[in-house]
Amino acid sequence: MDIRKRVEEIEGELIAMRRDFHRHPENSWEEVRTQQKIIERLEMLGIPCCKAAKTGVLATIKGSHASGPVIGLRADIDALAVSEESGVDFCSEEEGCMHACGHDTHISILLAAAEILNEMKEELNVTVRLIFQPAEEYIADCGAPYMNREPLVQECERLVALHIWSKLESGYASLRYGPVMAAADTFDLWIKGQGGHGALPHQTIDPVVAGAELVNALQKVVSREVDPLDPAVISITSFQAGTSANVIPDSAHLMGTARTFNTELRERFPEMIDRIAQGVAASTRTEIRLDYHRGPRPTINDRACTDTGLRAAKEVFGEDHLVEFPLQMSGEDFSLYDNPKCLMLLGGGDPDESLRYAQHNPHFIIREEALKLGVEYFVRYVAEYSKEHAPEGK
Ligand code: NI
Repeated sequence: MDIRKRVEEIEGELIAMRRDFHRHPENSWEEVRTQQKIIERLEMLGIPCCKAAKTGVLATIKGSHASGPVIGLRADIDALAVSEESGVDFCSEEEGCMHACGHDTHISILLAAAEILNEMKEELNVTVRLIFQPAEEYIADCGAPYMNREPLVQECERLVALHIWSKLESGYASLRYGPVMAAADTFDLWIKGQGGHGALPHQTIDPVVAGAELVNALQKVVSREVDPLDPAVISITSFQAGTSANVIPDSAHLMGTARTFNTELRERFPEMIDRIAQGVAASTRTEIRLDYHRGPRPTINDRACTDTGLRAAKEVFGEDHLVEFPLQMSGEDFSLYDNPKCLMLLGGGDPDESLRYAQHNPHFIIREEALKLGVEYFVRYVAEYSKEHAPEGK
């Protein structure tokens, strides 16, 4: 089959699907319509499928010569609590909800790839499992661990995914060995003092001053305790205290995120943050409690999975359009699957850099011509993998 030609033939349908998902985004664990639409499409194509992980879908394309392994292609399907301001004419119709991370493109790319792979199944030595995973964005209870427990996912020899990336120009892609996305943990710091009159600070234990010191002191973890060649971030992203101009409050609450690619460093983060918190507590007479929440671990691309991916990607994008995009401190729950895996960043950004809004931004926009390249990548990946498992003598 001429893969590129076949992808071009269904491009119109691909974009129509994407726009439909874009108009009807659903938050994590609420992907009911999305799930239904995916099932309808797969049933129309004659691809057996079932619901999985609450609002997800699993489907199977069995290659005719499939004595070989099962390969999983994964797309995340949820949207974000963001009010769309992109100005596209297929804008979100759901108030306060938007596909601002491009997962609408992931769903449609995988559905289009499924259509072509299903037409190719006579030629395939492997079985393809389609994994439509819910709730990627919900760090505290994300969808990957639920999918990871499914026997149909566990039997996959490897998993392949892509993420559309608005900061990378459309037509380009980035697929690298090793780390691609960071571990993304979050934490709360609860500061307990003793409130009182703003004019009589000496009669209080001021949690605001303690909080301010703590924000500053935490900057020293990365700058003074972490190897400068080891990317790491600790950001305080919320500071809540008090409601009045003349009252020192009883307590303050800080929230933040800690990110790194280094698993050992990640293990040490809670101790480092707590040690600094207890130092500030002692010096300010407050009590400080740390609640540390583990998010996804770093996403690490497996060597063999990436080797196959690079062969496929070279055919799709051309060697000169495969770039080493800088490492991202974003997290990805794809990391939580136990299977060997690789994640590619698919460029979806405007040629004009000033029009490339970051993922999760209300202005987030994707160049739709990138979608067909994503489809071609998935199809060629499976074709390459199938070749690796050709029966003896073929
Ligand atoms: Ni995403």
